[in-house]
Amino acid sequence: MNSWLPEAASEIAPKVDNVLVAATVISFIFFILISAALVLFAVKYRRKTANDKTPSITGNEPLEIIWTVVPSFILIAIFIHGLVVFNELRTPPKDAVEVNLVAKQWLWQFEYGNGKKTVNELYVQQNLPVKMIMRSDDVLHSFFIPAFRVKQDILPGRFTQLWFTPTKVGSFIIFCSEYCGAGHSQMLARVNVMSPEAFSRWEGKTAGDKSAVSTASSLPAHERGKKLYTNRGCNACHSIDGSSGIAPTFKGVFGRQEKLTDGSSVRADENYLVESIYEPQAKLVAGYQPVMPSFKGILSEDEVSAIIEYLKTLK
Ligand code: CUA
Repeated sequence: MNSWLPEAASEIAPKVDNVLVAATVISFIFFILISAALVLFAVKYRRKTANDKTPSITGNEPLEIIWTVVPSFILIAIFIHGLVVFNELRTPPKDAVEVNLVAKQWLWQFEYGNGKKTVNELYVQQNLPVKMIMRSDDVLHSFFIPAFRVKQDILPGRFTQLWFTPTKVGSFIIFCSEYCGAGHSQMLARVNVMSPEAFSRWEGKTAGDKSAVSTASSLPAHERGKKLYTNRGCNACHSIDGSSGIAPTFKGVFGRQEKLTDGSSVRADENYLVESIYEPQAKLVAGYQPVMPSFKGILSEDEVSAIIEYLKTLK
């Protein structure tokens, strides 16, 4: 019945779907009844001869009471059904695991209880309620996980929250669902739901390591860099095909002579690239806005090296 909806992968998802389906089914039934009556009456009571006169009907009290009272009760029932689920949706359980989220143009940065940070990849445990504490670094964003049926706006200067209990192991897409500038459509992330065993392994594996994508550490550096390029959201602004929009393209960036906003120019060598990742505003390329967030504390030295290795391959 719900095949027209995305997969339902959180505890609340089937309940939200039930509210939607119930209201849709009731609306559909009445649409059919009313449309059928309309057609039926139009045919049955149509003017058959030129002498037909409209009968004088002054009212039918019992009928009018029924068609007022019955729909009223149906509407109240729909409201209460929605309100009960809405309350649950808005009330996180006390034992929920807290994850801090900072949204910025154009990436998601998650910070866990033990100080670990990930970008554009959220890691949670199956059947464990999670409460997201969310704020924005710049403009209005909106955190939306369709499979969990949860969505909440994130505003600058204000904390908002959202909670869910993931029920299915897997990887589900996270959208930004509030237009937040040129990179909005690229502001994507994934929530990775893991079994309790896999989750504690993930926690252990990356303990003391700020990276969550270190699983790929056996790959050559430029391959790891390529993964980081998408995992960490570089791709939202930096193209690799030579097109420049929000930020300079990565195509041929290594060794390129860049003109800076202060009129001077600099060669994009390793040192410049490291600086631009950790302190993006230090030497800004002319013609671009200072919108890039610092990746200090997000990308380790090792990861930055891997990304630079990847950039070298983009001739
Ligand atoms: Cu952030 Cu749209």
